[in-house]
Amino acid sequence: MREVTVKQWKWANDPKLHKMELAKLEKDGLDVIDTIVNKYANEGYDSIESTDMDRFKWAGVYQQRPNNGHFMMRVRIPGGIITSEQGRALAEIAKDYGRDLVDVTTRQAIQFHWLTVETLPDIFERLAAVGLSSFEACGDCPRTIVGNPLAGIDPHEAFDTRELVAELEQFFLLNRDFSNLPRKYKMSISANQYNTGHAEINDLAFTPAKKVIDGQEVIGFHVWVGGGLSARPYMAQKLDVFCPQDEVVKVAAGVTTVFRDFGYREKRHYARLKYLVANWGVDKFKEELVKVTGPLESAGEDLYKGWNAGYFYGIHEQKQAGLYYAGLSVPVGRMNADELIQLAQLAETYGDGTIGTCNSQNVLIRNIPASKVEQFKQEPLIVNRFKLKPNTFVGYAVSCTGNEYCNLAIVETKERMRSLAEYLDDTVELDTPVRIHMVGCPNSCGQRQIADIGLQGALLKTDEGMISAFDVHVGGTLGLDQARFNQRLKARIEADRLGPFLAQLIGSYKEERIEGESYWQYVERVGVEHIQAQADQIIEGAKLGG
Ligand code: HEM
Ligand code: SF4
Repeated sequence: MREVTVKQWKWANDPKLHKMELAKLEKDGLDVIDTIVNKYANEGYDSIESTDMDRFKWAGVYQQRPNNGHFMMRVRIPGGIITSEQGRALAEIAKDYGRDLVDVTTRQAIQFHWLTVETLPDIFERLAAVGLSSFEACGDCPRTIVGNPLAGIDPHEAFDTRELVAELEQFFLLNRDFSNLPRKYKMSISANQYNTGHAEINDLAFTPAKKVIDGQEVIGFHVWVGGGLSARPYMAQKLDVFCPQDEVVKVAAGVTTVFRDFGYREKRHYARLKYLVANWGVDKFKEELVKVTGPLESAGEDLYKGWNAGYFYGIHEQKQAGLYYAGLSVPVGRMNADELIQLAQLAETYGDGTIGTCNSQNVLIRNIPASKVEQFKQEPLIVNRFKLKPNTFVGYAVSCTGNEYCNLAIVETKERMRSLAEYLDDTVELDTPVRIHMVGCPNSCGQRQIADIGLQGALLKTDEGMISAFDVHVGGTLGLDQARFNQRLKARIEADRLGPFLAQLIGSYKEERIEGESYWQYVERVGVEHIQAQADQIIEGAKLGG
């Protein structure tokens, strides 16, 4: 049960601690869960103290715009796999309390909106009853562990990571040794060779690797630290460490301990692990790590080959002969409760009852026998909504929450990205993906930096006053030896003109690309100045044309 002893952390007496750190020392974030259940849920929104409102994040709950008593909640989906029973429980919560809205997020979690504090205890119980939790899905603690939604069935995985994800989740969730980190902390673990875990943008990531140790080939992981997006994005860097499968928890605990004890706690925007890693360098980081873990093997050979960006559309063979998985499109990750219930039903009727959530904000159904594939393809939900082969732009559009619910947003994004993608599908004929990500502010929840084209909300001064606009970034990707963040063009485009602007920009790519060249590769080859010149011409042309 609850721990009552107050920990004496090494940093507790540092006079320069940020005020949020003082609040965390006074009352651990996790203690707010009890207060919500026993006090605030009974006494209502107006009784919530402002310092506790910050701590709500440790319960996985965040105030939603316009701060008038409604909350968003993020539910952890470790490794991006749920059962149909869990899917139904999530759908029922959305139906009963969340105005029917379910969002799949860019870190494979599920988000609800419109919750009130009175409903939270019941939601916590409903989640716990099916083995799910929202705790620590936000806050300065270990968040949802992202991974491979195909784990266990994946022809491209070095081994099945499901048990390791479960072990990590069990180790970190509600663990008071790690509930007061300097800042949010994101872990990724995937043995898929195509980086389904988006390793480079996580604080700590495990990617598949092998090494000969004492004459035996061992399959395990390489370990990456210090990645993250937001206003100052960093790619994670590979430590000179090979981690056998049975040492994952030890290494993860070690890295997290180093972050907890040495991470910066003076400025909130300078507290993520990425700053410590950037300042120390990976060699010093490893030196500190082994002081916690004991000796570690040096790095071996990568089994990590490329990047699939979390997309799995269509029907594909599994590693088990005769079984297939189906990758489905959920436009900008948003569905309603009934659709999730239907998805759970389809997972049971055709698959083994498991559903995968993808960091591309999509879903998949696992373990469909060959004999059922044709009938599955005819299901109305699949034909009409969660398509196996979505249109190019709708299929590869990602969006953050935006100003519909998010306090930090400068502009609306979710609906706008959806209609923009539809416009592009109607206007530009293209059969290869261009991944477009839209975010409403520099925090980059929609991961705009890794998109082929990243659109970031901003304001533009016009004669009629300030209007919504977007800064355009081009050429982002992840993947071994190729990962790079996209670069900003000098082009702030009015929201209403985004469609025609992008249609022309992508039209130029279509004309100039060489066979098989993705948009980021094209940007790499022709150079950003070339794209800038295209953008200038489009903007000029639009002006001339009125
Ligand atoms: C200071 C406030 C916030 C910051 C700095 C922030 C930043 C971020 C960043 C950098 C990511 C993911 C990228 C990565 O992997 O590193 C993220 C994820 C996300 N954020 Fe935020 N965010 C904030 C508040 C919010 C709010 C208010 C909302 C919505 C109401 C929101 C919604 C999301 C969503 C949906 C994701 C994907 C998360 C997941 O699956 O766990 N964020 N955020
Ligand atoms: S990117 Fe900004 S606007 Fe979008 S959800 Fe995140 S914090 Fe909100």
